[in-house]
Amino acid sequence: VGHIDDVQELRKTKPITVPERYVRDMAQRPTLATSSPCSSSAMSIPVIDLSELVEGGEDEVQREVLKLASSCEEWGFFQVINHGIDKELLESIEKVTTEFFMLPLEEKQKYPMAPGTIQGYGHAFVFSEDQKLDWCNMLALGVEPHCIRNPKLWPTNPPEFRETLETYSTSIRKLCQTLLRFIALSLGLNQDRFNEMFGVTVQAVRMNYYPPCSRPDLVLGLSPHSDGSALTVLQQGAAGSSVGLQILKDNIWVPVQPLENALVINIGDTIEVLTNGKYKSVEHRAVTHKEKDRLSIVTFYAPGYEIELGPLPELVDKNHPCMYRRYNHGEYSRHYVTNKLQGKKTLDFAK
Ligand code: SIN
Ligand code: FE2
Repeated sequence: VGHIDDVQELRKTKPITVPERYVRDMAQRPTLATSSPCSSSAMSIPVIDLSELVEGGEDEVQREVLKLASSCEEWGFFQVINHGIDKELLESIEKVTTEFFMLPLEEKQKYPMAPGTIQGYGHAFVFSEDQKLDWCNMLALGVEPHCIRNPKLWPTNPPEFRETLETYSTSIRKLCQTLLRFIALSLGLNQDRFNEMFGVTVQAVRMNYYPPCSRPDLVLGLSPHSDGSALTVLQQGAAGSSVGLQILKDNIWVPVQPLENALVINIGDTIEVLTNGKYKSVEHRAVTHKEKDRLSIVTFYAPGYEIELGPLPELVDKNHPCMYRRYNHGEYSRHYVTNKLQGKKTLDFAK
């Protein structure tokens, strides 16, 4: 990664320049025409109160499970509040992540992302010279199981980085398992249906730092894509706190308004396939802001690579014909990381 390929460096040395490599074709630009005209509550992603699910009485649980079902069917996204993860832990991971991104480029380049991989600091999902670049700096790390970790790429600066990520990842893992139980229930399945079939689950984290951009109308912070995971947990940084994440709903890019202490959850490709398309892995992207920076910390929770996936027999019948073939999740993961981000096209692999 040279200075010109690093948006934080560009911002420092040439604050008003947007090199050609970042300028999107017309159709991809975040124009107002396809953006949500207003941020009315009718167009806000649903909010799920996890404490109602975990501790609520029968009525509350039933109500919240129904809400969960409609969120996953209609939005593929929801924000979760009262998720049980300490505010201090959310603040700590944000602090060490911000400190990492604020290090000099030379220091961050001690953890280089090798081409064709998505571990380390650099541009993921870039395969050709003429591919447009995202206005984003990224640190991606494999977390679980330990054999997917590359310890050389886990920053030792700031010194608390590793331990904080370890603690954070353990909490997020438990949250994913809890959510998967309620997602199973919301489909009328046994609550352990997903957790039991997922084997030794794979967990990875991607930290995204979006510096301000002088021309947010020309660039994208992150290209449109759906996630290759089962579930994704996204923490939006409080600092800067500008709206950046947008999801494609009924052909309109709807912004996800940051909600204090909430985590954004989205359904990934695995759950879309297992539910035979009932629950949607929705296309999303990130846009940038003229003055404000933004941080997001994204955890991907997925089945073990050895797991065979396909629509669950319980969710296939005469009225719901099978929409996906059976395939190996490891193969899908390889397919995902060896292609550029391309909206929902990656999931054609399963058709
Ligand atoms: C992502 O989809 O991985 C992150 C988008 C965001 O920064 O909100
Ligand atoms: Fe994503």
